[in-house]
Amino acid sequence: MLIKTPKNSSLKDSAVTDESVYHDRRNILKQMGFLGAGALLGSAVTSKASAGFFSDDKPSFSTKALTYSKDTKNVGLLKTPEQKVISHNNFYEFGAKKDQPIELSQGFKVDPWQLTISGECDKPITLDYDDLTTMLPLEERIYRMRCVEAWSMVIPWVGFSLADLLKKVAPNSRAKYVAFETLYDPEQMPGQASRRLGGGIKYPYVEGLRIDEAMNPLTLMSVGLYGKTLPPQNGAPIRLVVPWKYGFKSIKSIVAIKLLEHQPPTTWNKLAAREYGFYANVNPNHDHPRWSQASERRITSGGLFARNRIATLPFNGYGDEVADLYRGMNLSKYY
Ligand code: MTE
Repeated sequence: MLIKTPKNSSLKDSAVTDESVYHDRRNILKQMGFLGAGALLGSAVTSKASAGFFSDDKPSFSTKALTYSKDTKNVGLLKTPEQKVISHNNFYEFGAKKDQPIELSQGFKVDPWQLTISGECDKPITLDYDDLTTMLPLEERIYRMRCVEAWSMVIPWVGFSLADLLKKVAPNSRAKYVAFETLYDPEQMPGQASRRLGGGIKYPYVEGLRIDEAMNPLTLMSVGLYGKTLPPQNGAPIRLVVPWKYGFKSIKSIVAIKLLEHQPPTTWNKLAAREYGFYANVNPNHDHPRWSQASERRITSGGLFARNRIATLPFNGYGDEVADLYRGMNLSKYY
């Protein structure tokens, strides 16, 4: 894998938005009537998480150590500290605020779990919880993750290529797309039970890829980070990671993968099609209608709003591996 470390941007801070960006994303939901003032300003339910946010407080979920081969190619990337990776999350099933998932997901049960892979294939399968970490050899992948809200992290994931998983079910010639679905369980996921808490999303959260995107070696099914199983707020027990696309494509807590002939609907596209496309490739030349995508705030070891502004790279710096997938396509039309 080619390593490209983003250079410091020559952009002025005033040319880009900062933490206001993701408040803006939440504001559109508020304007649509989905988030109450309580949710925006913080409420009693989040007070514990806020107190521990980015501090040394240890969250109460339990994770177990994984056996995996180390990433030897991307060791030069400066990783985002684990405490930030697990406490600054987008997981609307557990609340639309960044500090709600760590608080509201701690009782989330991941064992037993079932992941069904079906559709246009010859050998559909259902995996259980143990299969997820034993069926394929696990490897570490240190990837940049760029959120559409213009912040980014560098995360050491543990998992296996989606391609290796899909090969097990023998996709047939009609398999042109892959659809993914998150668990639907309003009793465990309070954001699914409350339109306010869950940002007005129609659950279950769904995502999709073209089959060639799914088969690209970079596309990862992650079962862990920082050498341990995933904490609930990061998408336990299994999630997708597509490092050249905006983070919302990387769907969490997956229970179903389906091979399809036609392009499947996707959650954020259904909610606001003008803002979130099916492709969602990281593209500094195609702004979000309400903010610039030219640069991003890399979350490192500084404070939450530490000034750490870097230029955003096309395909999040993975162009050498994936640009060919989109040859001849107008990336502003297919955003
Ligand atoms: N998957 C589900 N099911 N629900 C979500 O709200 N949020 C997405 C994505 N996957 C989301 C999801 C968004 S917007 C981002 S940026 C990433 O998860 C964040 O992943 P992280 O919290 O592990 O950093």
